[in-house]
Amino acid sequence: KKVVLAFSGGLDTSVCIKLLEEKYNMEVVTACVDVGQPEDEIERPASAADKIGVSKHYTIDAKDEFAEDFIFKAIKANALYEGYPLSTALARPLIAMKIVELAKKEGADAIAHGCTGKGNDQFRFEAMIRSKSNMDIIAPIRDLNLTRTEEVEYAKDHGIPLASDKLYSIDENIWGRSIEGDILEDPMVETPEEAFNWTNSTEDAPDEAQILEIKFENGVPVALDNEEMKPLDIIGKCNEIAGKHGVGRIDIIEDRIIGLKSRENYEVPGAILLITAHKALEQLTLTRSELKFAAYISEMYSELVYDGLWHDPLREDLDSAVDKMQGRVTGTVRVKLHKGNLRILGRESPYSIYSEEAVSFEDKGIDQREMTGMVKNYGMQAATYNKICKKD
Ligand code: ARG
Ligand code: SIN
Repeated sequence: KKVVLAFSGGLDTSVCIKLLEEKYNMEVVTACVDVGQPEDEIERPASAADKIGVSKHYTIDAKDEFAEDFIFKAIKANALYEGYPLSTALARPLIAMKIVELAKKEGADAIAHGCTGKGNDQFRFEAMIRSKSNMDIIAPIRDLNLTRTEEVEYAKDHGIPLASDKLYSIDENIWGRSIEGDILEDPMVETPEEAFNWTNSTEDAPDEAQILEIKFENGVPVALDNEEMKPLDIIGKCNEIAGKHGVGRIDIIEDRIIGLKSRENYEVPGAILLITAHKALEQLTLTRSELKFAAYISEMYSELVYDGLWHDPLREDLDSAVDKMQGRVTGTVRVKLHKGNLRILGRESPYSIYSEEAVSFEDKGIDQREMTGMVKNYGMQAATYNKICKKD
């Protein structure tokens, strides 16, 4: 029997290879889906698979698809779950779809993943895999109830090579880097500097500030400082710039699907930069009611993505509503990055509904006297309530 394993080259999935062979008697094919993780995170699984003795390893390039079909939708929706830009959560359904495709091509009997039984990723992978195939799903770490220490022991006993610098459980793709586990499990422990890879500390960030102009069209970024770039490159460049200036470190206590609270560290410089700028442009172009609706959609959207329900029809419904509004979110936002700070300096749009003239205290277009009647009866119910119920 043959199984395709989603393989990252990390501890969990490396151990899975041997477990699948030894305890499940399966022939293992590994696959790493490239969703824009750093180059060495693509090479590592390939060489690890080779060292562990896997006969077939695939690298599947899904970078552009991830940027265009997933991240750009998330930018339009300002997708944030409890402050987290959903970098890991957004990539899971795409990885699952690619693995299913490959498993079908390989004529496999099952699909395996290295998720533990405590996290979110098991839900995300399996929900998508089940909606695209009827194949068996095997989760060896969860099945055998293994701890990380037990995994390390098993790896040593079976000659499985482990990257010695990998203390934490890390997940990376072009939209962000998630860091958890080990000493970070104590929420009072400060995350050590060496846990970070994409962002400078405030102290190490350059003394010189950087001003950047981001151009959006229909709600998605298309150019940086007037240089047009494709989605993947814009995101990469934003990571580089914001990361250099120490923007985009997030340390939160997060509510997982199963109800566990967990301490999570994220490096998401590009995501924070782009979503902040995007919101600034929305403030200029959308009406008050639209902004309120957009915030509500954003909340629902983010929870769906977090919960691994990318393929729920509601997500497409929400996308349609978002897209309709984003047709006017076109224009340029100027930001300043300096020592961990991100400040909006200015914004402009051909669809701006801000009127400098109308709001100006020098203008007489709105006759102030006409407001007297409108103001007079404003808050009528509150006034009545106070008179009736708050007598002293
Ligand atoms: N808590 C985050 C999420 O559920 C990140 C999970 C990251 N996975 C990992 N192996 N570090 O989206
Ligand atoms: C795991 O438990 O496999 C990784 C973390 C998560 O899924 O949230």
